[in-house]
Amino acid sequence: MSERSSLERLIVVVSLLVMTVLAGIIGAHAGEVPLPTVPKATAGSCVAPPDVMRRSHMSMLQHGRDLSVRQGERVEGGRLTGCIDCHAVSDGKGGHETVSSPQHFCRACHDYAAVKVDCFECHASRPEPKVKASDATSEVPASALAALADYAEEVAR
Ligand code: HEC
Ligand code: HEC
Ligand code: HEC
Repeated sequence: MSERSSLERLIVVVSLLVMTVLAGIIGAHAGEVPLPTVPKATAGSCVAPPDVMRRSHMSMLQHGRDLSVRQGERVEGGRLTGCIDCHAVSDGKGGHETVSSPQHFCRACHDYAAVKVDCFECHASRPEPKVKASDATSEVPASALAALADYAEEVAR
């Protein structure tokens, strides 16, 4: 009987310890700034793994821009229109949100991180009405995607 109650006491003590540790962990997390909610992509998989994209999309877009504007070449995976097609956010009325909406994919983190980009003063921030996301993605050659992914890995290093 006394053996059993000491076992029970041990269980209570251990449970309390576990609960204290868990509360500490949860508390520490609650104290951190919550992450932004990034809208889900409409199709396929990204031009590089999402963690690479999170870290390196700025330089990838810069790379695409350099090649296209300065060298007259096109890196299909680096086209801003590709990003916009897959990352379009429905406006619930059959269209898509523009960058004037806080729901826009590119603003999800930028608003949060207080980053401002001027890209959409010239570039469309939602898909061209006639282009379906499926059409746009099927045009991207695998070789261009692979080259871009390699580049992104390099930049991430
Ligand atoms: C073929 C469709 C497609 C294209 C093209 C595309 N993406 Fe993605 N992207 C995805 C998918 C799928 C994910 C994974 C997360 C998801 O499902 O939303 C993703 C993830 C990301 C993430 C990480 C988001 C997060 O949850 O943290 C970023 C940033 C990103 N993409 C930026 C871009 C940029 C910039 C471009 C243009 C260079 C681009 N993407 C082109 C489909 C695409
Ligand atoms: C997963 C979060 C996330 C998403 C989604 C995202 N960005 Fe970013 N972006 C960032 C962060 C964070 C920075 C700032 C990085 C830094 O300063 O090192 C940034 C910086 C940039 C920069 C460089 C700005 C500067 O002044 O240096 C460009 C360009 C850019 N993003 C373009 C885009 C475009 C275009 C989209 C939508 C297709 C997009 N980003 C979506 C997180 C994101
Ligand atoms: C002053 C207008 C202007 C601004 C601002 C601008 N661009 Fe561009 N961008 C252009 C023009 C013009 C081209 C060449 C168009 C073409 O190749 O069809 C281009 C091409 C590109 C390309 C390669 C071609 C393509 O279809 O995507 C990328 C990527 C790009 N820009 C990204 C960006 C990003 C990212 C920003 C913001 C940091 C930005 N641009 C801001 C005018 C602009």
